[in-house]
Amino acid sequence: MDIETIKTQIDPEIQNINSSQALEEFRLKYLGRKGVVAQLTSTIPGLPQQERAAFGQEVNALKNKILSLIDEKQKLITTESILPAVTLCDISMPGIVQDLGHLHPITKVVNEICTIFNRMGFSVVEGPEIETEYNNFTGLNIPLEHPSRDVFDTFYLKLGDRSLVLGHRSKKFTQDPRPNTQHLLLRSHTSPVQIRVMKSRKPPLAVVVPGRVYRPDAVDASHSFMFHQIEGFMVDENIRFSDLKGVLAVFAKAVFGKDISMRFRPHFFPFTEPSAEVDISCIICQGKGCSVCAKKGWLEILGSGMIHPNVFKHVGYDSKKYTGFAFGMGIERIAMLKYGIDDIRLFFENDLRFLKQF
Ligand code: PHE
Repeated sequence: MDIETIKTQIDPEIQNINSSQALEEFRLKYLGRKGVVAQLTSTIPGLPQQERAAFGQEVNALKNKILSLIDEKQKLITTESILPAVTLCDISMPGIVQDLGHLHPITKVVNEICTIFNRMGFSVVEGPEIETEYNNFTGLNIPLEHPSRDVFDTFYLKLGDRSLVLGHRSKKFTQDPRPNTQHLLLRSHTSPVQIRVMKSRKPPLAVVVPGRVYRPDAVDASHSFMFHQIEGFMVDENIRFSDLKGVLAVFAKAVFGKDISMRFRPHFFPFTEPSAEVDISCIICQGKGCSVCAKKGWLEILGSGMIHPNVFKHVGYDSKKYTGFAFGMGIERIAMLKYGIDDIRLFFENDLRFLKQF
């Protein structure tokens, strides 16, 4: 068969093809090992010398033409085979976007606050949520008769099994717990980690402690039986109240913006002396007075003070040599103020419409 005849026959032949299988047969017929092109090529050596080159080029051109015809046809067949599926849906519709997981707003605020204190040289330490009565109260100079020790304010764990002690505090809780006493409870603040850290390390130290705490509060828009705190403390020779002030000013401006003002209000905590609660100017009304700050113009954000010498006595530090400050804040409260959230329960309901906003 001569090349010209072949050229005229391949066009109609490929037009009739409409399946991948038929196309493969076509390919084998022309480009297979014993196909038409191979046969033509095999005749080249028998041709007169002067015709060989021209004939060779023609065969090559034919081969390339067949290759490109096959290529075009293959695309057509592929498109046509998926066309029925494509016409069933609206390809202009937006695709289904996979939700990516991300950090919980509380985790974000914890990370942010820890980073701020980290930059000021504080290291991050964590402690257990199940604590001894000694670490949670006694070591912190909280007297036996203090109301926070009451079952109404602390979740006690029964020794032996892990059920909660509800109802009246048993007699044994009113006896003086020795340092190693094993009355267990769910820590009601992160301050017991002060005792743990100070007992295991010597000054100088600067530590922040994020973590969960538990109190048997009735749940409402501003109370939860579990919430988060960050404790911070620094101990060394010559640590003064002004150091506390400086550290907290850096913290408050980093979290709430450099334009806020801050004030220290005298307060009482058994484990600090003197003690102060810290307020920032209301970030909603800039101190003019609104419903968030109850018309006061100030928002309380944390408790703080100079570590009480009795606490140093419990951990074996010389209170004549060392001084220190401590502070503790509720993370949910900080997050609520920062993001304008008016109900603490939103943090724990796992409603994606809420969580996705952070
Ligand atoms: N532990 C206190 C609380 O939970 C906060 C605090 C920590 C106050 C450290 C002073 C110093 O309210």
